[in-house]
Amino acid sequence: MPSTAALQLTPQGRLRHFLTTEGLPRDLMIQILDSAAQFLGDTPRDLKKQPLLKGKQVVNLFFENSTRTRTTFEIAAKALSADVVNLDISTSATAKGESLLDTLKNLEAMGADLFVVRHNQSGAPHFIAQHCTPDLAIVNAGDGLHAHPTQAMLDMFTIRQHKGDISQLKVAIIGDIRHSRVVRSQIHALHGLGCQDIRLIGPGTLLPRQGLAGTLHDDLREGIDGADVVICLRLQKERMASALLPSEAEFHRNYGMTLDRLAWAAPDAIVMHPGPINRGVEIDGALADSEHSVILDQVTNGIAVRMAVLCQVMGVEVGV
Ligand code: CP
Repeated sequence: MPSTAALQLTPQGRLRHFLTTEGLPRDLMIQILDSAAQFLGDTPRDLKKQPLLKGKQVVNLFFENSTRTRTTFEIAAKALSADVVNLDISTSATAKGESLLDTLKNLEAMGADLFVVRHNQSGAPHFIAQHCTPDLAIVNAGDGLHAHPTQAMLDMFTIRQHKGDISQLKVAIIGDIRHSRVVRSQIHALHGLGCQDIRLIGPGTLLPRQGLAGTLHDDLREGIDGADVVICLRLQKERMASALLPSEAEFHRNYGMTLDRLAWAAPDAIVMHPGPINRGVEIDGALADSEHSVILDQVTNGIAVRMAVLCQVMGVEVGV
């Protein structure tokens, strides 16, 4: 079976699918970020519309709930003049036992060119990419505990926008590291862009047992000391056994980010969160709404970054 990293690149080195940030060449990441910058207008909310995907059909296939990812993929595809279909899984024939591949083959027979897939099973987008016809492109919109590559790229875009060269930064990621697909993709992207100082912070039960690059900290103050970027993560309750977390209140007492605690980080630190946020658990409302927060910039930037990714996997050049 080809590795996910190998499956997603063409022989020329562009994205054929986008399944993971693991092993993604630095130049390709920079190309995506630079292309995305072309789509942002003078202000972040002033996106430039383009006819680059006119005549292409993008199908959003979300087997898990989503607000930000599904909507921004739809806005991105429409901004590129693609036709967009949002399959409502709850009313689709999937509920009658149709297999994933059969569903895809039927959608392909209706003219689909690109599937944006979110699934609770790690590896589902890889499986689809392996078995779909060569004309189809697959973009992973989050699979189980595995990866959320476009989230990581929009996070890299936002960090670069606010802090410049990522290789020089101290990045602290707090919360449910163990169950987060976002953090896996962020770490691969941060490493690929040269970041040397990544701290993973949380209670021992929510830190990874193995294999994630970054220093582990069960003390919040020690972990965010001098950090340039502080990323808060939601407790992934849907993916954890209840025994791993005594209570949300206790988590907040020890690891919840507040304006006061942000004083332990660098004076100009930015605060990020992939969303959805749980105010009063992993982050205080006052901090989420403060000038330090770039959480809504992440959302806006997600449109431009997803435009860049859609163009890449469709083989369409974006002038930089
Ligand atoms: N960050 C993120 O994936 O949010 P959604 O679940 O709303 O798409």
